[in-house]
Amino acid sequence: MAVKQISTIAVDIGHSNLKMIQTGTDGRIQKFVVHKMPEGAVDDLEILAEDALVKSLKTAKRTARMPHGKCFLVLSGSDIIIRHFTLPILPEQELYQNILHEISGYLPVDPDKYYVDYKVVGKVEEEGVEMYRVLVTTAHKRNINRYKKALRSAGFSPKVVDTSENAREKLLRYNKQVNGDFKLEGGICLLDFGTKHTRANIYHNGYYYVSNVLKRSGQSIAEAIARVTSKDILTAETIKRNSDFLTSNDENPELKSAVSFEVDSLLYEVSRVFEYYSNRTKQPVHSVYIAGGGSMLPGLKDYIAQHLNVNSYYASALIGNPKVQSEIDERGFGFLLNAYAATFRED
Ligand SMILES: Nc1ncnc2c1ncn2[C@@H]1O[C@H](COP(=O)(O)OP(=O)(O)OP(=O)(O)O)[C@@H](O)[C@H]1O
Ligand SMILES: [Mg+2]
Repeated sequence: MAVKQISTIAVDIGHSNLKMIQTGTDGRIQKFVVHKMPEGAVDDLEILAEDALVKSLKTAKRTARMPHGKCFLVLSGSDIIIRHFTLPILPEQELYQNILHEISGYLPVDPDKYYVDYKVVGKVEEEGVEMYRVLVTTAHKRNINRYKKALRSAGFSPKVVDTSENAREKLLRYNKQVNGDFKLEGGICLLDFGTKHTRANIYHNGYYYVSNVLKRSGQSIAEAIARVTSKDILTAETIKRNSDFLTSNDENPELKSAVSFEVDSLLYEVSRVFEYYSNRTKQPVHSVYIAGGGSMLPGLKDYIAQHLNVNSYYASALIGNPKVQSEIDERGFGFLLNAYAATFRED
């Protein structure tokens, strides 16, 4: 299936920052905004303060002079459950019943409370019988509907709700469509360094394979700096952003060791996801693309290459359109990756 880019507004609501972009018909980013979220307005996929979220959406929209109208929403959170199943080749209705039956075992409550979406990603043979390989995605209806309501209150008309896992898959495949040299084969990992969590998504031959949510990220590094320096968390954040504790030898050794410890612990967890992938596919993860605000940690990109023994890039390297590539900030684009990836659709 071909992937194409749509002219739209895309919204990614994170724990610390709300990201909004508008793309044109040529795929270029016409407008964007990264707006600081009020503390505690959303947590994972849960909206804790709807009024505050609507206000943020309105402010971001006004700041960036976004028009009213259609928008795409991209979500990531541990409440979104994504699973592969191998199922008999059946007509659509029966296949869907089978999917509901399979996925219900993974849902904490009644499947009626969930949106269940699926796509057939291929065929496999099991004991001589050809079967469908199906990727199933579920999300709690109440959460999705609350997001849609907030977007409508801010003057948008939400048309598409996508997961970051699926949106990134389209971005990867689009890149291959426009750039034949791009190595889509084998294992590619996208690492999203968010506020409290780091999300590791692995793609196999351009298709979503597995992901894990790791409970360490930028915040734990700032907390480690605050502990060592006995400074407040805001000062620690500034120190974190301005010093390269990972690859430079000129920094305070105690801080260097505290930051490296946090990053090493995180990368150890990432390496476990790599192991899971390579044990099953017999292929290594060859490249890592880093995104999210935490990907801007000085030295992180090169540190990952050294410590995980992979090619390591900023996610902006995944932009296939040369016009867009020349206009964006290589590191800062990490903030916008999810929103940008959400502007792609599959035919
Ligand atoms: N220059 C920088 N260097 C290092 N870290 C940074 C920098 N700028 C922002 N960050 C970190 O980025 C994180 C926020 O990133 P981002 O906006 O991607 O998260 P989010 O999308 O709001 O969170 P989540 O995806 O977990 O909901 C914060 O932890 C912040 O410390
Ligand atoms: Mg995020």
